[in-house]
Amino acid sequence: MTYTNPALTVVSDEVTPGALRWRSPSNIALVKYWGKHGNQLPQNASVSLTLDAAATDTTLHYRPRRETGAGVDVTLYFHGKVNEGFTERTRRFLEGLLPIYPFLRQLSLRIDTTNSFPHSAGIASSASGMSALALCLVSLEEALFEPLPNADAFFRKASYLARLGSGSACRSVYGPAAVWGTVSGLPESSEEYAVGIADRIHPVFQSYHDDILLVSRSEKSVSSRAGHGLMEQNPYAPARYAQANQRTREMLDILRRGDTEKFGQVLESEALTLHALMMSSQPYYTLIEPNTLHVINILQQYRRETQHPVHFTLDAGPNVHLLYPDAIAEDVTRFIQDHLLHFCEDRQYLADRVGKGPHQLKVDETSGV
Ligand code: DP6
Repeated sequence: MTYTNPALTVVSDEVTPGALRWRSPSNIALVKYWGKHGNQLPQNASVSLTLDAAATDTTLHYRPRRETGAGVDVTLYFHGKVNEGFTERTRRFLEGLLPIYPFLRQLSLRIDTTNSFPHSAGIASSASGMSALALCLVSLEEALFEPLPNADAFFRKASYLARLGSGSACRSVYGPAAVWGTVSGLPESSEEYAVGIADRIHPVFQSYHDDILLVSRSEKSVSSRAGHGLMEQNPYAPARYAQANQRTREMLDILRRGDTEKFGQVLESEALTLHALMMSSQPYYTLIEPNTLHVINILQQYRRETQHPVHFTLDAGPNVHLLYPDAIAEDVTRFIQDHLLHFCEDRQYLADRVGKGPHQLKVDETSGV
């Protein structure tokens, strides 16, 4: 599929300044995307639950550009202040989209973005941030040109654009769960965008919790981008990609049946496999910390004692996500407070749960271009 469209240009004088706003959540991968090829295409399929509280709120302001230059004219404000680093990353992303959206060169853009979770919480914001921006861009296309034929086409295009910004972001445009990558038995699935799987999720998983234990809030020593790159030389890569594809199919079946035990087994093995891939890269590296392992050991002991289906997963970092059904939420909250906060930086954790996906918001009238 290609969205390339040289005809999408505007007559600058005819553009009335405006703004669009979306709130988009983060997501937690159950089967992990780790390794890519071509232009941001995944080496294997992945599946995630969409979160609720951890989200990015983005407003995209646009007006005609006085003189159309070669690149894109954009400034990004993060929590009200110009952020040079994010502006640069966003400019590169938008310039990469010029074959799809040539009109981006003809506008002056200002992006106002805020995260619901504290900055430097050790929570990756690229999934929520890139998906919120991609949704604003598709809304901008609709504001300047024709509406897309239907909601499916709208979200598919947003997912495609989000993927070009950050792979995992393409899964955030759907709640409560999404699959990215080609999966046999899921004919609409694709490497180029994620698909929503709301109608294949057992109710027990639709109200699942994800409590994120902030073991460390420092910057990662190796970025995800670099980590994906190291998979190219990893001797275990071919076996890993085959395993992840197989596990994606398995996880889809588990999510449909509501099997919380099998869910936990695949979930935990995926987390440890991800970190084993980092440890077996050249150069090798570790992102987990001693407290990550303390939390995991205490959790496993708690599970043996209580038989509660509460399981862990990890992203590319030391923080531990605890996933569990709503029915045991009170017990698990007490367990975290009594036994796990001690391992978290400043005793911090974020209580989140599975959410319904992004939504468009009214633009705050006080914030102009
Ligand atoms: C471990 O999506 O952050 O969270 O495509 O380079 O932006 P880029 O990488 P990114 O990688 C996420 C990796 C992961 C697993 C996952 O979310 O599937």
